[in-house]
Amino acid sequence: MLMKNLSILPVVGLALLAAGCQSEPSAPAAALGSIDTVALKRAYAGETEGKAVSIYFLRNAAQMQVAITNFGGRVVALQVPGKDGKPTDVVTGYNNLKDYLSQPEAYFGAIIGRYGNRIARGKFQLDGTTYQLAVNNGVNALHGGPKGFHNQVWDASQPDAHTLVLNYISKDGEEGYPGNLSVQVTYRLSEDNQLRIDYEATTDKKTIVNLTNHSYFNLNGDGDSTILDHVLTINADKFTPVDSTLIPTGILQDVKGTPFDFTTAKAIGKDIGASDAQLKNGLGYDHNFVLKPVATAGLREAAVVYSPNTGIQLTVLTTEPAIQFYSGNFLDGTLQGKSGKKYMHRSAFCLETQHYPDAPNQPSFPSTTLEPGKKYQTSTVYAFGKH
Ligand code: BGC
Repeated sequence: MLMKNLSILPVVGLALLAAGCQSEPSAPAAALGSIDTVALKRAYAGETEGKAVSIYFLRNAAQMQVAITNFGGRVVALQVPGKDGKPTDVVTGYNNLKDYLSQPEAYFGAIIGRYGNRIARGKFQLDGTTYQLAVNNGVNALHGGPKGFHNQVWDASQPDAHTLVLNYISKDGEEGYPGNLSVQVTYRLSEDNQLRIDYEATTDKKTIVNLTNHSYFNLNGDGDSTILDHVLTINADKFTPVDSTLIPTGILQDVKGTPFDFTTAKAIGKDIGASDAQLKNGLGYDHNFVLKPVATAGLREAAVVYSPNTGIQLTVLTTEPAIQFYSGNFLDGTLQGKSGKKYMHRSAFCLETQHYPDAPNQPSFPSTTLEPGKKYQTSTVYAFGKH
């Protein structure tokens, strides 16, 4: 069966322009290691509803390169040097826009909104009004709905070679959410191999917001068959257990003594096969980890993961209170990625910084409500190094 909980990408009316319609950039592909900028520019040149789709490259002098399309703000390639110095692309994705449109949705690399993760039965209330969202994941709403931010064309500007600024206005009522929401997401690459993502939003009517990025990583290199050998630490001593539809039950459970204890470094595969009701519900890890509280606001370390093979290490820092660790359980070999290899079960993982799933229906969870006159502002950093 195709990935059980993935929604089929809606037809978004994207008319791809024929290859070669854009003038050729002069940047030589060789300067970008395995990222072929000329081919990617061609393969991402398109237009939908009068909005141009393209691809943008962030580069630094330390051999890190990131390719991002303004279709869904998706990171389509992210190349970092391993311990042998070899540039390695460590994210899943496709090397052309057509594949994002024709393959079932796995949210590869995308900006997720208006609400990351699940809302029970797609329903929530604000000030006595009940809002009904599109239900696209069994009985629940997932990742902003079929036409969530991952499937929208964002306005893009690139002030310099390190920065990409994306803007999107989500209209009042879009996918069932109240209020015109004006969103800005900025990707910035530093000279020390940190990809920083700043999220900002304002609304003209009370609404809910929970934005994240849905990059899937394999630090052995894109297309490698497993992530179970990766060694992970999560700075969380509690997680939110879920029911069989992956909606939090409302309690915070201690990770101590459970397969969810990543407080000290552990291979992802070590306990994933344990007989455990929560692992059964998630088909593996697909849970919200509550980050240890900190005294001061600002970025703090949420998770560290490395590949013993390549020595590539990813540290995730965030201002968010939680992180979803998803071990790629619904990948089943159906999707074929940019390397030509199929994405197999647990061949990539996500670490999605966030507020808790279903928070609008769970009064004890930190609030995700945004009011007019207030600014939603969060930051997450994917910092790459060597182990
Ligand atoms: C969810 C998974 C889902 C995946 C892709 C993750 O954020 O927690 O349940 O399968 O996204 O849709």
